Parts: sequence; C-alpha cells; structure tokens
Amino acid sequence: MNLIITDNYEEMSQEGAKMILRKILSSKQINLGLATGSTPLGLYKELVKYVRENNINLSGVVTFNLDEYIGILPTHQGSFHYYMEKNVFGPLNIPENQRFIPDGMAENILNECRNYEKKIQQYGGIDFQLLGVGENGHIGFNEPGTDFTKTTHVVELTETTRQANKKFFGQVEDVPGKAITMGISTILRAREILLIANGVHKAEAIYQLFHGEYSKDWPVTALQKHKNVCVIVDQEAASLLIKQNNLCY
Ligand code: GLP
Repeated sequence: MNLIITDNYEEMSQEGAKMILRKILSSKQINLGLATGSTPLGLYKELVKYVRENNINLSGVVTFNLDEYIGILPTHQGSFHYYMEKNVFGPLNIPENQRFIPDGMAENILNECRNYEKKIQQYGGIDFQLLGVGENGHIGFNEPGTDFTKTTHVVELTETTRQANKKFFGQVEDVPGKAITMGISTILRAREILLIANGVHKAEAIYQLFHGEYSKDWPVTALQKHKNVCVIVDQEAASLLIKQNNLCY
C-alpha cells in the first residue's frame, strides 16, 4: 500500500483530485467507483474546478456509486443520489447514462443488488475506486462483521454509522436503518483503489488498515490483500501511525 500524509484536509483533497484527473486524462474510457460522505467533498470541489477550467472531456467516464440508503427518494437531501447530483453530476454535467447509483427505492431490492453487480461487470469492472472510511472501519456500508466475499447486498446500519451520518439528515431518527452497498468482494475487484481520510476520529481505522489483523471486525483491513491501493490521509488521521514512529510503507 502506498501512503501519502498531507498537512491538512485541503492538501489531501488536492492530491486525491490530481490522482483521479491523471487517470481520466490517461485513458479514453474509465469506470470510476465513487464514494459519498464528508471526506470526498473537498476532492470533488477540486475535480470540478479543474475539469471546468481546462474544459476536460468526460465522455469516456462512467461512474458507479458505492451505496445508497433504502427507502428514501433520490430527491431527499440525505440521499446519495441528491449528494451526487449536487456535488458531482450536476457541476460536471455527467449525462444520466454514464452514472449509476443503487436504487434504494426499487420494488425488489434483492434484484436491484444483483442487477447493480451485473451492470458493473457488463461495463468491464471498476478501474479506479475512491473510498472513504467510517470510524468503525466500514468501507462503502460494509459494517464490521460483514463477510469479505459479499458482492452488492443489503445491510443493516450500525448505530455508530447512523450517528455519523445524521449530519446529512438533521436527527439520527431520520437516518434510514438499511442500505444497499457494493460488497467488499465488489470493491476488491476494482483494479486500483484510493482511500482518503481526515481527522483524528479516523486515526484508529487508518491504524487498523496498516497494522491491524486482517479481520471482519475492521472491514477496511480487507484492503491489505489488494495489490494496488493508495491511501491519502491528513496528519490527524495518520496520528496513530506517526506515534508508532513506523513510517515504512
Ligand atoms: C458513509 C459512506 C461511506 C463513507 C463513510 C465515511 O457511511 N457510506 O462510503 O466512507 O460514510 O463518511 P465521512 O466521510 O462523512 O466521514
């Protein structure tokens, strides 16, 4: 795993955006796996700025989001559809047929999971996957205890995750209890992965990623077995690594 420690959130966002831009510019056709949450907001801002300023052609870019809540409309302000429209698809003008997010309002949710997984494969798989990480080490919405062999599936969200995401809903009671998420096996099939994290509340998850035992208790440790992972974190998220004085990644 490659590790880049930046001075702050802004620098983490810029480095991450630059990496994605390099990928877009170097390939005619690229399938990007995208994440939501507070962490990538700065990266998306940088990306939008650069694409607009330089008039970058995105006709070869197809995006697949990691996850979506079950039971809220795409227009709901807490939904990942809404988040993506506001922060990425709208500003970048990505046409509807080039972007995919699991449908949390589908009548048959299990079919939706199967179809989403199939769609990723039909498009040739994900070339570059952007990830954040939850405080409890979840990636996508794969909570602790999730089997690493799972593909896209339905999850029951933990209290910690619902608390962490209430910022997008107002109060925790309004955060849905279930979601559809790409599974860890789906994520690991991506050819390249970039994980970003900032803030001291992510330090334990980052520590586990590098030094923890490969275990379902910390879903992020699944990345230890992937051959092409880059991690960009700010000083705070790296604080437990730095304390170990063990920076030989
Ligand atoms: C959510 C998303 C994850 C994200 C995580 C961290 O649960 N499903 O993809 O990585 O939150 O969120 P934040 O970046 O807001 O800390």
